[in-house]
Amino acid sequence: MLKVEENELITRVGPGTPMGNFMREYWVPALLSSEVPTPDSDPLRVLLLGEQLIAFRDTNGNVGLIQNNCPHRGASLFFGRNEEAGLRCVYHGWKFDVEGRCIDMPNEPAESDFKSKVKAVAYRTQERGGIVWAYLGPRSTPPPLPDLEGNMQPDSDKLARATQLPCNWLQVLEGDIDTTHVGFLHYGGLRAEEQVPGSFSEYQLRVKTAHFEVIDTEGGAAYGARRPASEDQVYWRIAQWCFPFYTFTPPGVLGTKKGGSARVPMDDNHVLTFNMTSGRPRPTQQTGSSPFFQQAMQPNTTDWYGRFRPVQQPENDYQLDREAQRSNTGFNGYTGITGVGMQDAAMTTSMGRIYDRSKEHLGTTDAMVIRVRRRLIAAVQAHMKHGVTPPGVDDPDVYRVRSGGVFLPPDADWVDATRELRQAFVEHPELDPALNGPL
Ligand code: FES
Ligand SMILES: [Fe+2]
Repeated sequence: MLKVEENELITRVGPGTPMGNFMREYWVPALLSSEVPTPDSDPLRVLLLGEQLIAFRDTNGNVGLIQNNCPHRGASLFFGRNEEAGLRCVYHGWKFDVEGRCIDMPNEPAESDFKSKVKAVAYRTQERGGIVWAYLGPRSTPPPLPDLEGNMQPDSDKLARATQLPCNWLQVLEGDIDTTHVGFLHYGGLRAEEQVPGSFSEYQLRVKTAHFEVIDTEGGAAYGARRPASEDQVYWRIAQWCFPFYTFTPPGVLGTKKGGSARVPMDDNHVLTFNMTSGRPRPTQQTGSSPFFQQAMQPNTTDWYGRFRPVQQPENDYQLDREAQRSNTGFNGYTGITGVGMQDAAMTTSMGRIYDRSKEHLGTTDAMVIRVRRRLIAAVQAHMKHGVTPPGVDDPDVYRVRSGGVFLPPDADWVDATRELRQAFVEHPELDPALNGPL
């Protein structure tokens, strides 16, 4: 349970808010490279940390991220002409380069040097693994990008995906680190005896509760959830969170799955998730035979909120099928909602845009949620009051983490026993991803 002020502190991200200032110390994923596909392609509306920005790829291939309102008289640069290494406002022809410099002011007399005095807000960008990263922070020399394995693989640019949900970023992030919902929301209609014998899927379904341990890590926090497996083994399901909004969810075999997600706030009430996961099969068809199918998306529009919206939405109750729910069998049979991602979305968006966490009743299996909130509150306050650099900003190494499941002897200390398996950029050819089972 949080105090109302604490809840506000860690959920609000607009310019000038404590969490907004905190997040602006980091590089943040802003858009997919494919949204500005070619030099001089169409400008794009991007809402990021509560700021309205226009992204454009200039003639040289560089991506600009510039204030929406033209510095002259405020017309939107979305309507601009993207030409000859800059974005030209169509109202009076002022033109800006990717750094925000005004490079042409054709409605002023030729002898005027006014254009050298005008600068648009423009944020630095870097592209890696199919994602355009932005730095909205105060440093003149930005910190390094985080060493995120899922964004640094040879095929990362093909696997990068984005999904928008209409609720606060922290609600969605908390769903990632809440392990016991999985046995109900996602797998409640499945039976342990129908799973591959000896797989994680089987043991996960046999015992729905879990003994839960949380540790602090250099970059954030991790949990181990222990369940009984065979006589001489226990099943540990391990997941990680890194500052400020990265999660590494536990499906898969620890040591083989690469990557995670960023839950990036568009504003206080909308989150854009950037998925950067490599090395895990990704079904392409909506067959219903796997819980991890790719959900159907609406076509993108040019609206601020028009990017990457699933067809299943709060307005259509996520296409809830009560008959399927009554059946209580199969991947979608507990909820009647199709797809793991949309089952999660129905829960996190149904709390309201920003849930008032002073009304909660948290149990022992919410230990990770509690830890992450406490870490965020402490770090935001330290930044706000004493200017302490947020964790991980100058330490790209702390993002070199992995999550997943593992069998260990009953008396093993999971933290020591998995130290190497939790390290990214290490190959473990001896491990078999099939151990996971389908879940
Ligand atoms: S408003 Fe953009 S050039 Fe005048
Ligand atoms: Fe979930």
